[in-house]
This record gives sequence, structure tokens and C-alpha cells, in this order.
Amino acid sequence: MSNAEHHEGTRRDFLYYATAGAGAVATGAAVWPLVNQMNPSADVLALSSIRVDVSGVSEGSQITVKWLGKPVFIRRRTPVEIEAARNVDLSDLPDQVARNANIEESADATDENRALDETGEWLVQMGVCTHLGCVPLGNAGDYTVDSGVGGWFCPCHGSHYDTSGRIRKGPAPENLPVPPAEFVDETTILLG
Ligand code: FES
Repeated sequence: MSNAEHHEGTRRDFLYYATAGAGAVATGAAVWPLVNQMNPSADVLALSSIRVDVSGVSEGSQITVKWLGKPVFIRRRTPVEIEAARNVDLSDLPDQVARNANIEESADATDENRALDETGEWLVQMGVCTHLGCVPLGNAGDYTVDSGVGGWFCPCHGSHYDTSGRIRKGPAPENLPVPPAEFVDETTILLG
């Protein structure tokens, strides 16, 4: 193929993709008013923050709630889980950033910077592995304490998270992120 023909081919390809792209945009624009109608802004607002009653969550157990279409783990940790999380040296952590949306971005990954309350009893984090997005299993992996309590394990490619949800081993690059969360009364956590 001569150079001239080659260029011609390239331009045709470009035109083809550009046309396909324009088609996709037009479809998107036509669908939007319908979606918009079906989602009044009050609904959208309600979805972006939810209240979770945690009065039934006993020590050493966790619940999973869905927030913005993703699982969130809410765990009430035992003193042993908290102690294990707080005794870790920061230099042992592959990801030394807290990943907590409630505090400044550069905060380090101490357990105190990840737990929801000062005592560390409550840990709230996204249940989405930071490798490729699987949902990790609770009370599993190499960082459980008390023979199988606490810690998370993602079986997809073998990522182990400790009792603070921090990545310790495996391909996941970051700690499980802590979403915007706060206690609004003694037994209710507001997410979002
Ligand atoms: S998605 Fe969790 S280890 Fe790959």
C-alpha cells in the first residue's frame, strides 16, 4: 500500500468512528428526558444518602447495605479486632493512606483514621475490592484474629485485608475506601 492510500484508509476509518460516535451521542440525548422524568430529584437525593439502623448489629458481626448501588460493610468490631488493627506499624502497610472520605485526603492509614468512632468499635467501608471490584468475604483471609474473626479476603485474585480493611497481601493496590458516614444518633448511621 502506498503512503497516499494508507492515509486515505486512515481518514475513512476516522470518519466511520466519528459517525458512530455522533450516533451514540444522539441516542443518549433522546433517552435522557425519559430517565429524567422517571427520577425526580427527590428520589435522587434520597438515594445519595441513606440512614442505617445498626441497633441489631452485635459485637463481632457486620451487615452489608447497598448505597449508590454498591455494597457497604458496617462492622461492629470486638476489642481483639480493634487491638490488632491499632497495633500495626504503618510501615507494614502497602497503602499508607487512610482512604477515608470523612477526613483529609492525605491522612495516614492508622486505624484511628479509618474507624467511625473514637473507640474503634464501628468500621464502615465499601465492600468493593480495590483490585478489580469483587466483593470481599468477611471473617476470612490471613488477617483474621481469634481464629477467624475480622479481616476480609477477596477470593477473585487473593487479596487479604486486615481488621481495619487495609490491604496487606495480594494484588489490590489500596485500602477499602471509607465512604462519607456519621452517627446521627446512638443507633443510626447516615451514609452519604
Ligand atoms: S478483585 Fe479482589 S483480588 Fe482481584
